[in-house]
Amino acid sequence: MRSILSVSDLSASELDSLVKRSAVLKKQMRARKPPSTLAGKVVGLLFEKPSTRTRTSFEVATIRLGGDPVYLSAGELQLSRGEPVRDTARILGGYLDAIVGRVYSQETLSELARYSGRPVVNALSDTEHPTQIISDLLTISEVKGKLKGLTTAYIGDGNNVSNSLLLGGALTGMNVLVACPEGYEPDSKIYKAARSIARKTGADIATVRDPKEALANADVVYTDVWVSMGEESEKEKKTRAFKGYQINAALMKSAPKSAVVMHCLPAHRGLEITDDVIEGKQSVVWQEGENKLYGAAASLEFICGAH
Ligand code: CP
Ligand code: NVA
Repeated sequence: MRSILSVSDLSASELDSLVKRSAVLKKQMRARKPPSTLAGKVVGLLFEKPSTRTRTSFEVATIRLGGDPVYLSAGELQLSRGEPVRDTARILGGYLDAIVGRVYSQETLSELARYSGRPVVNALSDTEHPTQIISDLLTISEVKGKLKGLTTAYIGDGNNVSNSLLLGGALTGMNVLVACPEGYEPDSKIYKAARSIARKTGADIATVRDPKEALANADVVYTDVWVSMGEESEKEKKTRAFKGYQINAALMKSAPKSAVVMHCLPAHRGLEITDDVIEGKQSVVWQEGENKLYGAAASLEFICGAH
């Protein structure tokens, strides 16, 4: 049993196996013949923030693999009235077999894991979104047939998704170029860690200012919201700062025609991406959304030691 709090908790071969296992589970789940690998397991989903895809995919994955999910909205727990995370974790650890946590602070996830004694998977924190990247790597390998040697250009905010993408690219040998305005770079510790991993796998990990430069050789064009959950008060400032970083038809002219467009969703049409691009021929966003189910399923099996 192992937690996945960061992409960097995984070795290159573990990440590769997770992506491959997601593909196998996709076939089995689509054929309505999933394995009962989570039979007898009760999985708690502790969410401090809203979610459409991640919550539903983890709940459905648990059910399809024969386990039972329990959704725990942090706002309805005694956590919201000041009960410490460590006390909550100790109690939940006695009831649950595994915990899926969507939280603000990465430290909350570490405390949940430490004090519950149960494996925890990060379903998004302010710092990382590892399971998003596991399923995104499945999508990229499906549409491009490989990961190593490809180039993903991430245009926009250096946030949780970009941080996990940098680590995922580094581990799989996929180049990741992040184009962002000054002051909105990915987490510096994660960036350094990704570059250090990349030295072994041969991936090129870099940040640039000019989105056109990042797009020039891109196989994948990736973006995410400019204003992440919890940053609502910065909306006006960030919207100004990211002008010029919108994925629109004009900017897409700088990318090869074969490039595909990804967005972890939810999308804000007219801000980080335009309607014609997200609905256009290069978009693989809906395939990406479906694949979250299989990435969640593989992650649950991994943390439960169930495969
Ligand atoms: N991509 C993603 O994590 O979406 P949700 O916020 O809906 O879970
Ligand atoms: N960066 C976004 C991702 C949403 C799935 C956020 O944290 O709100």
